[in-house]
Amino acid sequence: MSASARRSPADFTAARVRNLAPSPTLAVSDKARQLKAQGIDVIDLGGGDPDFITPEHIRQAAIDAMNAGDTHYVASPGIPALRKAIARKLLEDNGIDVDPMGGVVVTPGGKQSLFEATLALVQEGTDVLIPEPAWVSYVPMVDLAGGRAVPVSLDPNDRFRITTEALESAWTPASRVIIICSPNNPTGRVLGLDELQALANFAIERDLLVFSDEMYEKILYDGNTHTSIATLPGMAERTLIFNGMSKAYAMTGWRLGYVAGPKPYISQIEKVHSHSATCATSFVQAAGVVALTGPQAFIGEMVAAWDRRRLAISSGLSSIKGISCPPAEGAFYAFADIRETGMTSTELADLVLREAHVAFTPGIAFGDSGEGHIRLSFATSDDLLAGAVERMGAVLGFR
Ligand SMILES: Cc1ncc(COP(=O)(O)O)c(C=O)c1O
Repeated sequence: MSASARRSPADFTAARVRNLAPSPTLAVSDKARQLKAQGIDVIDLGGGDPDFITPEHIRQAAIDAMNAGDTHYVASPGIPALRKAIARKLLEDNGIDVDPMGGVVVTPGGKQSLFEATLALVQEGTDVLIPEPAWVSYVPMVDLAGGRAVPVSLDPNDRFRITTEALESAWTPASRVIIICSPNNPTGRVLGLDELQALANFAIERDLLVFSDEMYEKILYDGNTHTSIATLPGMAERTLIFNGMSKAYAMTGWRLGYVAGPKPYISQIEKVHSHSATCATSFVQAAGVVALTGPQAFIGEMVAAWDRRRLAISSGLSSIKGISCPPAEGAFYAFADIRETGMTSTELADLVLREAHVAFTPGIAFGDSGEGHIRLSFATSDDLLAGAVERMGAVLGFR
């Protein structure tokens, strides 16, 4: 082959990856980091990382495990102690009965569990329904698996409620899976029992598998409660639950998550897991046992801090011209309506980053239904949030 006819890197790139965009939320943080490296004082509200350090007793458990020589490969689906702790947690907290031996796979992060499940259960010809606005990685995961992501567009004027009509109008004969997330990233909504029932009826009628992303289940405000769709009649057999330690235990950097559900699906996911991750990190799993079985008061303290910040950022953003921001019901994101500014979410995000040095994620990153909104993480200090509102108001004007 002559040098001029040499293949380019693009020729070597798999078609399914070529058009894949990097994670837009990570891109916002990267941009903020670059500006910071240039000495610019940027307030970064783009990410989804609790601003608390992992509690001491959990950190100590990892150190102890490592010092005890727990540095080897472990059972691919997870150490039995952690799988048992997860099964106990699912029973006690959620009323869900899974077999720790065969019904749980422990993964390096919840994102990995969603990816492995999608790769195991979605293929060419499979449509996956995704209520939107939605977390940024569901669609790329479906794309990578060769399936087709089909948005279920939700109405901002109806608080992004999931309705039977919205589900019916998105459904296609190739639909096999629906991915739901409550408490929701990015909208901060918690699905009500009426919505869960509508989803359950729809899933049963249309014979769908439900991926239920419950990462933020512990982060709830105003008396909202979390109900897993798996507990509704007829749903346990068709629901996979995705959860992890990142948000509730401030363990984002540790990478520890899991998927749980019916054995026939979990056994397929186990195969993908064993050929990709092998296992989640041994001593991290030991710490995960302590996280789930140790003192839980820390979670309430974190949520109390986020509750205060949630109310402050909502009223602060709502005092800015063209922005209105109802307080989140769960998770730690303010999803503000910016339609009155007349700008797209990307235009506003670019303007504010450039002029006010505040970074956040444009709503369009969460699908077309997210346009007209911006997402700001309030898992950061009171002072930084107040500073962000001050700076944004200085550029956009206060009401
Ligand atoms: C909705 C949602 N699902 C899953 C994840 C994955 O979390 P992790 O991989 O840290 O467990 C995140 C993280 O931001 C998320 O927001």
